[in-house]
Amino acid sequence: MAAKELVFSGVQPTGNLHLGNYLGAIVNFVKLQNTHNCIYCVVDLHAITVWQDPAELTRTIREVTAAFIAAGIDPKKHIVFNQSQVSEHAELAWVFNCVARLGWLNRMTQFKEKAGKDRENASVGLYAYPNLMAADILVYRATHVPVGEDQKQHLELARDIAQKFNNDFSDSIRTHGFNEKFFPQPEPLITGAATRVMSLRDGSKKMSKSDPSDYSRINLTDDADAIAQKIRKAKTDPEPLPSEEEGLKSRPEADNLVGIYAALAGQTRADVLREFGGGQFSGFKSTLVDLAVTKLGPIGAEMKKLTQDTAYVDAVLADGADRARVIAAETMNAVKDIVGFIRKK
Ligand code: TYM
Repeated sequence: MAAKELVFSGVQPTGNLHLGNYLGAIVNFVKLQNTHNCIYCVVDLHAITVWQDPAELTRTIREVTAAFIAAGIDPKKHIVFNQSQVSEHAELAWVFNCVARLGWLNRMTQFKEKAGKDRENASVGLYAYPNLMAADILVYRATHVPVGEDQKQHLELARDIAQKFNNDFSDSIRTHGFNEKFFPQPEPLITGAATRVMSLRDGSKKMSKSDPSDYSRINLTDDADAIAQKIRKAKTDPEPLPSEEEGLKSRPEADNLVGIYAALAGQTRADVLREFGGGQFSGFKSTLVDLAVTKLGPIGAEMKKLTQDTAYVDAVLADGADRARVIAAETMNAVKDIVGFIRKK
């Protein structure tokens, strides 16, 4: 492991975890455990930027935790916890609210999409959300952040915040004996064949938890029948599959299914097209169903089992939070000194 490299990432406990979350993020979380120290967080403070039913929020916090473990994350070797148990996230986010500029947040496309036309009615939290995300990462001074393509802009903002804090407080950082690069520049890790999984009903829309059509996504808790039905009904075009990647360019639905296959099989799009190029979608879809059921079935089953054992899941989160807090408190104490606050020593 390279010195001081640390991985951090988060997933929101809002509704159904789907294949996009799995292939764009969680699969990479699992892989990184072999090479890095990792911190994986269920970001419940982010979830409430849009109103959540309290009982349902509690359930989904446990469900995302169960998904992490069922997918192969080891909560003993690494850290798994829910954000609200480590108050330093919210504390650092406030400092970052005072570092980030309005103009930076005004450029965030996800806010524009989520707030939609009724912008005046969006919560202040939804607007300031990327500052909290920067705090999540930087309170651990994490260096690498595995995410799907859609989080790239938020990561750029986190880098800007880190840099501005280091510049604004450079004298104080030095006076207190810290490295001038107090906050690192966190690097996004956007890897694999499915960094942006699209809706199964519309290849121009991202697969998302909030799409009203359940046929648009494969949920991690879907059983074999549901997975099969959704893949069979997935939108395609009438042409056979191309033999070269070039042929996927103006065919978003074909590109999406090939990308999903490649990511589930651990192959590249080119590998998949070498095998299926020239064939019809019906045959390809049947093989994709088998692959998806083989890969996702056991995860879904394990998730269901784990979510019933709430005592175990809650204990994992409490233990992870205790370990996370030690690291976060060290950063936050340093930040307080750097900013000029007085604290009990
Ligand atoms: P969230 O909860 O929307 O999604 C969790 C992860 O899944 C990825 N993802 C996708 N990847 C590929 N295709 C898709 N259709 C797709 N949909 C979602 C996301 O990119 C993400 O990696 N703001 C974050 C959560 C967060 C966070 C953080 C992430 C809060 N703090 C700090 C990293 C570091 C979010 O809403 O992800």
